[in-house]
Amino acid sequence: MLEPTISLTDEQITFFHKNGYLAIECLTTATEISRLRGVYDRLFSEQAGREEGNQYDLAGTDEDDKPLSLPQIVNPVNYAPELKDILLKANARAVAQQLLGPPVEAQGEFAIMKPPQLGAPAPWHQDESYWKEELEYNSVSIWVPLQEATLENGCMQFIPGSHKGDVLPHHPIGHDPRVHGLEVDECDPSTAVACPLPAGGATIHHCRTLHYTGPNRSSQMRRAYVHTFAAAFVKRSQPRDFYWQKQRRTARDERRRQAGTVSTSAGTA
Ligand code: NI
Repeated sequence: MLEPTISLTDEQITFFHKNGYLAIECLTTATEISRLRGVYDRLFSEQAGREEGNQYDLAGTDEDDKPLSLPQIVNPVNYAPELKDILLKANARAVAQQLLGPPVEAQGEFAIMKPPQLGAPAPWHQDESYWKEELEYNSVSIWVPLQEATLENGCMQFIPGSHKGDVLPHHPIGHDPRVHGLEVDECDPSTAVACPLPAGGATIHHCRTLHYTGPNRSSQMRRAYVHTFAAAFVKRSQPRDFYWQKQRRTARDERRRQAGTVSTSAGTA
């Protein structure tokens, strides 16, 4: 295992707990980012994971003959062992430990790609709305662009302080039950903060922080590689109803059923 090379300052940790997000300029090296870009592009061009429902369109209806508007690969490391031991991951884990207190568990990793020109927005949402209603979460996601992330290509945006509330009601994007992605029913983005980043920088957000990325209006792919870490999962004492998850009837779920894919993670999107 690679040893981490960064640590957050007290000021950064305080900022995160107050605002529910943090942006840092450098999580890993330019050399590693350029290597990861090659692996990433290969996984999307090979449609890695699609048959078993681990690659799918977050923002569209995900039919086989349609271009995907926001393709996501769940746990890309399962399709590319060279993603196992990377500095990005060692540093992401170190940062998560500083914010949540050790130990932390890896909850999952995701590659989320916005194709040039037609890459769709990811509407305002809280990540926990995708997860299990019966568990209590204390998680952070570390979002790393493999090229510059700008307002034009869909950098992350956050509503400061929104992590302090409950999980709000969500619905499938566009109220279309065929779409996997979720959107919060109501939020006021007037205080939103956009976080443009250099390649290999990172934003870090709590699982209840409201966040958004705009459409990709550039002529290049917008590649994001996300790692989620959790403090221990605890069964909730109070039940809750994530009814919006039960509304969905997606092509991805159908592929999972046909492939017999079993969910092993407590929190994949
Ligand atoms: Ni999200």
